[in-house]
Amino acid sequence: MTRDPAHPAHPAHPGSGGPDTGPEAVGPRTGPVGPGPLGPAPGPAAPGAVVLREMRWWDIEPVLALERELFPEDAWSPGMFWSELAHARGPGASRRYVVAELPCGSPGGEPPEEPPGEPGRPARRRIVGYAGLAASGGLGDVQTIAAAPDLWGTGLGARLLTELLQHATAFECEEVLLEVRVDNKRAQRLYERFGFEPIGFRRGYYQPGNVDALVMRLRMQGTEING
Ligand SMILES: CC(C)(COP(=O)(O)OP(=O)(O)OC[C@H]1O[C@@H](n2cnc3c(N)ncnc32)[C@H](O)[C@@H]1OP(=O)(O)O)[C@@H](O)C(=O)NCCC(=O)NCCS
Repeated sequence: MTRDPAHPAHPAHPGSGGPDTGPEAVGPRTGPVGPGPLGPAPGPAAPGAVVLREMRWWDIEPVLALERELFPEDAWSPGMFWSELAHARGPGASRRYVVAELPCGSPGGEPPEEPPGEPGRPARRRIVGYAGLAASGGLGDVQTIAAAPDLWGTGLGARLLTELLQHATAFECEEVLLEVRVDNKRAQRLYERFGFEPIGFRRGYYQPGNVDALVMRLRMQGTEING
C-alpha cells in the first residue's frame, strides 16, 4: 500500500514526532472494495469462533492474500509486513500486530484451496482479519485494520480495534491517530463508535485515485475502550 516509503503515515504533525516508520515504511490505505479475485468466501463464517492472537511471520502469507483482496490498488508488500513485525518484539517494541483466525472445522474456517490437515498436525486455521498499531513518543497510529468480507458486520472490526487500543494504553499513548478514506463510511462509523473524532483532511492522500483522507484522533486519557 505504500506509495513512497519516504513518506511516513503522519508526515504533517509537527511536534508529535510521528511513528517510527522503519526502513520500509507503511503508508495509507484505500479500501474497502469488497470480495475480489479470491472469489467467494469458503462458507458462512461463525464469528463466535474467531480467536485473536499476536501476528507472527508465518501469518504473513495468509494475511497478504486478504490484503490483496481488500486493497488491490495499494496492497502492502511482504517486506512491509516483515519490517513491521521486526519492530513488534523485544524491549524496544513499537508495534502490535494481531490476526483473527477461525479454527478449521468451524463454519467458514476452512482455508481457501487448502487440503484438510493431517492427523497429528496442528489444526489449520483461516486468517479472517488483521490489524496493526505503531506507537512512538506517546502517539499511536492505527497502521491497518481489515476483516474478511464474509465477517463484516459481526463485530470483528470492533474486536480488532479494541485489541489495538488496549496495546495503545500499554504503550502509554496519549492519543491515537489514523487516516481513513473520506468515502469509507463503514470504517469511519467504527472509529466514531470508539470515540475517534475527525481533526482534518489530507488532500489527495490516497493515490492513484487521488482520494482525500480524513484524519481522526482518539484522546486516550480517561478513555474507556468500548466500541
Ligand atoms: C472497516 C472494517 C474493518 C470493519 O469491520 P467489521 O467487522 O465490519 O466491523 P464491525 O462489525 O465491528 O462494525 C461494522 C458494523 O457492523 C455492526 N455490527 C457489529 N457487531 C454486530 C453484530 N453482532 N451483529 C450485527 N451487526 C453488528 C456495527 O454496528 C457496524 O454497523 P455500522 O457500520 O452501521 O455502525 C471492515 O469493513 C473492513 O475490513 N473493510 C475493508 C478494509 C478497510 O476499509 N479497512 C479500514 C481502512 S482505514
